[in-house]
Order: sequence, then structure tokens, then C-alpha cells
Amino acid sequence: MFYILALFFFVHIYNSMPKITYITHDNQNYTIEVQNGLTVMEGAVQNDIPGIDADCGGGMACATCHVYVNDNWFDKLPSKEDGEEDMLDMAYEPKKNSRLSCQIIVSDELDGLTVNIPSKQG
Ligand code: FES
Repeated sequence: MFYILALFFFVHIYNSMPKITYITHDNQNYTIEVQNGLTVMEGAVQNDIPGIDADCGGGMACATCHVYVNDNWFDKLPSKEDGEEDMLDMAYEPKKNSRLSCQIIVSDELDGLTVNIPSKQG
């Protein structure tokens, strides 16, 4: 019996994935589980979240994966890589809490992350 319970909890923990909430400009909320190691952009694209175009496929060359990160989360994210700030200058209505979602790699530490999607990209 102990082994069955241990197996159940192991499988449950092993399979649990961080939840990311995407909020569109017209206030539709999508909370989805995204596999560790994927980017926030990939989570959106794979789940047909509207408003994240990701034209360059994550190459940091288009800024059409632009999101606004909830204030509670912004400082918890890894710092921007070289070039992200320059690319964000080309995004539609960048703000101080703007990030490229293709540069945010999902991990257990980001469970509960909320991002807002701008009204348009590019
Ligand atoms: S997908 Fe092109 S910059 Fe993120």
C-alpha cells in the first residue's frame, strides 16, 4: 500500500507543471499549464492564446511576442539578455514592465506568472 501511495505522489509531482496566466487586451483570461523548459511564448502559441504572434519563432528578432509582466512578477524574472531591450523599443507601446515572452523560460519558480498581452503586436 505504501508503495502505491508513494508512486501516486511521485507521478503527481512529476507531472505537475507551472501554471501561466495570459490576459488578453479585452480581458480574456487563459490559465494553462506550461511544461518546464518551454518559453512563455511557446506556451501561448501551443495553446492558441490569441495576441502573441511570435513571427520569428523565438529568435528575438521580431518583438511580436511582447507582453506586460504583472508587477508582482517582474522582479522575479531573470534579467533581460543583451538585445531584448533594443528589440522591445520596436514593440507596440512598450512599458517598463515589458518583456519578450520568448525570452522567459518556464520553471517551477514561475508557477502563477501572469502576463498581459498588448492590443496588437509590432
Ligand atoms: S518571438 Fe520574435 S522576438 Fe520573441
